[in-house]
Amino acid sequence: MTQCIDIKDNDGYDLENFVLPTHYARDLERVLIPYGLIRDRIEKLAADIAADCTNPVVACCVLKGAHGFFAHLMESLKKQKDRKAESIPLSFEFIKVKSYENTESTGNVYISLSEEDMKSFKGKDLLICEDIIDTGRTMVALIEKLKKYEPASIRVVSLLLKKTPRSNQYVPEYVGFAIPDLFVVGYCLDYNEHFRDLDHIAVISEHGKQAYAV
Ligand code: IMP
Repeated sequence: MTQCIDIKDNDGYDLENFVLPTHYARDLERVLIPYGLIRDRIEKLAADIAADCTNPVVACCVLKGAHGFFAHLMESLKKQKDRKAESIPLSFEFIKVKSYENTESTGNVYISLSEEDMKSFKGKDLLICEDIIDTGRTMVALIEKLKKYEPASIRVVSLLLKKTPRSNQYVPEYVGFAIPDLFVVGYCLDYNEHFRDLDHIAVISEHGKQAYAV
């Protein structure tokens, strides 16, 4: 893994310092990563990825959580140059994966991608773009599935990596931020489909967990 920003257990900012959607007033505990910092860090992730590129890249967005990260990362990657000072040919793919209910991994990983799409990965350099790695179970399952279709390489970039004892020790090639073992929302990360409309990454409050539990 390349270097990343390590966020400590008590890091973060009081909610009063930010303009936040009023409908989440009681549902957040603190802002963990402000939107501006997320965007700055993505610029560097794109530079690091580009520096390692030699071939066209098939960038795979893991839906739904990674769509905001994916859009911003691709915007930055398009402006980057590879090792030969050439721009990087990019194509996009979208993979829908679901494994969580409330704040718990269900243990079952559902991956929706057609056989035809996966066959087209043969011989390609895949860049999987994920929002967060928690236990690592989703990513290991996804990589195992994709490997069967013989891509030339698989690299993973995750905006967040949770520091949790539940981890299966999987670590992606590129990570934006290592975060404490807390349930976070915002910047498209959801809790039962809520909070995707929050720009900053924040820690959900007990009130928020109860208000949006299924
Ligand atoms: P893993 O299989 O435990 O690594 O979980 C990965 C997936 O769980 C991510 O793609 C997210 O959809 C979801 N997830 C894990 N932790 C969080 C969190 O703190 N906030 C929102 N979603 C999370």
